[in-house]
Amino acid sequence: MPDAMTAPGDRIIIALDFPELAPALDLAERLASHTGMLKVGLELFNSAGPAAIESLRLQGARVFYDAKLHDIPNTVAGAAAAAGRLGVSMLNVHALGGRAVMEAAKEGALRGAEESGLPPPLVIGVTILTSLGDRDLRDDLGLAGTAGDAAIRLASLAKQSGMDGVVCSVHEVSDVKQTCGADFLAVTPGIRPGWAGSDDQTRIATPKQAVAQGADYLVIGRPITRADDPAQALADVIREMSEP
Ligand code: C5P
Repeated sequence: MPDAMTAPGDRIIIALDFPELAPALDLAERLASHTGMLKVGLELFNSAGPAAIESLRLQGARVFYDAKLHDIPNTVAGAAAAAGRLGVSMLNVHALGGRAVMEAAKEGALRGAEESGLPPPLVIGVTILTSLGDRDLRDDLGLAGTAGDAAIRLASLAKQSGMDGVVCSVHEVSDVKQTCGADFLAVTPGIRPGWAGSDDQTRIATPKQAVAQGADYLVIGRPITRADDPAQALADVIREMSEP
């Protein structure tokens, strides 16, 4: 976990999954100072483009660009360089793309940041989406073992390929840390406080479980962004994380 982290909220990444920029910026303004990063994912990026990242950076936020890159190495390197130039603090790439793709993502992201005179972003591998369960892997994708097994296999490959960490479910964090080392970051979506529904997520956990398992960052979207009072929902999550 980065040294600068002190408050529990610093571990929270809010997923700004909106179809346009205005509500994302509005929410960002209300929540950013209590969180570690704001996440721009495929919905917002494909709606608002790089301006989404630039506007959030202008507001002073640190941005996780959840690009989930998955293409050939040359294309991924170019996309990662562009993201690096935009000043993202974290960027991700599918580990299922393989070693050369992850290495290309890292090289591109660092080169892009350097070209803009910015600090190097963290580059993170996506293991198995938390919306997938064991049955999906076995019956539909033909991948060996459980979702957890596959996630650990991909985390190990991500580590060998120079990633700073992985996106994985809370249930895989301790195995990831055991396999890849305590400093290898675990970024965990699929977070659902007791008061929230599961939506389309399968491998879910509460904020308290995430902290107990050693997750470095908790990615939280709908339980906060779709709450009647998002600031209160965030405060509730932070309180739950701090409970003994
Ligand atoms: O609304 P919710 O809390 O489910 O949002 C989770 C966020 O994390 C979404 O933006 C989703 O794209 C992202 N994510 C995920 N599972 C992964 C990687 C990213 O749910 N494996």
